[in-house]
Amino acid sequence: MAPTLPDGVAWPADGILDPAKVGRTSRNLSLYIHVPFCTVRCGYCDFNTYTVGFGPGASPESYHQSVFREIDLAAAVLAPYQHQPVQSIFVGGGTPTLLASKHLGQIVEYAAQRFELADNCEITTEANPDSVDQKALETLAAAGFTRISFGMQSAVPHVLRTLDRTHDPKRINRVVKWAKQAGLATSLDLIYGTPGESLADWEVSLTAALAAETSHISTYALVIEEGTKMWKDVQRGKLPLPDPDDEAAKYELADTLLTKAGFAWYEISNWARLVPGEQAGTTALQHASVHNLAYWRDDDWWGIGPGAHSHLGNLRWWNRKHPRAWAQALTGNGVDGFDGSHKGGGLASPAQAGEELLPADRALERFLLQIRTADGLAVSEVDPQLRGRIPALIGQDLLSMEGNPNQGEAVITLTLAGRLLADYVTRELTV
Ligand SMILES: C[S@@+](CC[C@H](N)C(=O)[O-])C[C@H]1O[C@@H](n2cnc3c(N)ncnc32)[C@H](O)[C@@H]1O
Ligand code: SF4
Repeated sequence: MAPTLPDGVAWPADGILDPAKVGRTSRNLSLYIHVPFCTVRCGYCDFNTYTVGFGPGASPESYHQSVFREIDLAAAVLAPYQHQPVQSIFVGGGTPTLLASKHLGQIVEYAAQRFELADNCEITTEANPDSVDQKALETLAAAGFTRISFGMQSAVPHVLRTLDRTHDPKRINRVVKWAKQAGLATSLDLIYGTPGESLADWEVSLTAALAAETSHISTYALVIEEGTKMWKDVQRGKLPLPDPDDEAAKYELADTLLTKAGFAWYEISNWARLVPGEQAGTTALQHASVHNLAYWRDDDWWGIGPGAHSHLGNLRWWNRKHPRAWAQALTGNGVDGFDGSHKGGGLASPAQAGEELLPADRALERFLLQIRTADGLAVSEVDPQLRGRIPALIGQDLLSMEGNPNQGEAVITLTLAGRLLADYVTRELTV
């Protein structure tokens, strides 16, 4: 099971977009490449991923060939827009490292042939800790990857078991060490609030993540996604629902321990290790993820792969969800094969549908994303009719404000308590 996609409107079969509808684009461009394969489907996960392949162009062995096609399409469609060189590429999943490291490297190489990449382009892959070894990490670094994000989730065996995770928790230290030796920046994903996880268990996981000496940590509250195995277990009463108070205590513990260890939050779920001379309270940190920031700063990005979403100016669109349907669409529904040669089918878009955002929708989206960051949001971006609610939110210790709102330069930022109630603060200032 994977989440369903929104309805939207039909998208041009050749993917070419009407510049009038695109409107003003960002100068910054990022690429996301989705790899929809995993060895095991974790009971909590509803990402668009499968434990089997679906034939030519839609199986781990030949997936890169379909990715090349969508890179070609992206380069052609984006050519008229004046983007700076690509600032980040993120290969996510699924489990990207189920593709051969050689093929992951070829994807980066292909992107670099079709797009100009910035000199300091951040090139990340996600990885499951048991899907990489030292050799694979060296190959990835040699192929141009600069960063790797491991799905650690927990260091506690019974928590990992509830999450259906198969890796040995001791492996985290080893894979981070190998990645660093290969010259890769490292990030660890942690999940808190798993049924049966105590506050002490969570502390063990945070301590283990810090002991691995990574430069970036993401912590996610467990979401019980509808339709997943875990959701069914909750419905049947086999597992309890996460408790919001327990999750709040765990978030606070994460903030305390990570801050004490020299990390700074720069988005609600993300912490970067500070380097000498850096101050907390900003997203401009050396170890912050350029790719994550691209989403929160409303930059443009192209999402490659089944179910992947793209964003260019006022337009959003999303690809066919099933790997076979996506790969097939990229061949012009059979006009071109998978032998590497285009037989003249022209451009063929795998988009299923899309939508045009109105200025008010875009402003709301910008608000939702920016308020989550340590940079906060200019008061001038809040609807003038709702600005009067800001003092009360400051009084409740949910927001802090710097600068003088009467001179139009004030910025509001979530406090620690505000980060826990970000949805409430957002509602207060948008509805
Ligand atoms: C899509 S996964 C890809 C990484 C890799 N497949 C892995 O799991 O090791 C990216 C991250 O999303 C987070 N995640 C996935 N499903 C989640 C859920 N239901 N609730 C909270 N976090 C989740 C996990 O922390 C995971 O590492
Ligand atoms: S390995 Fe990652 S992407 Fe795959 S099912 Fe598990 S959490 Fe989801």
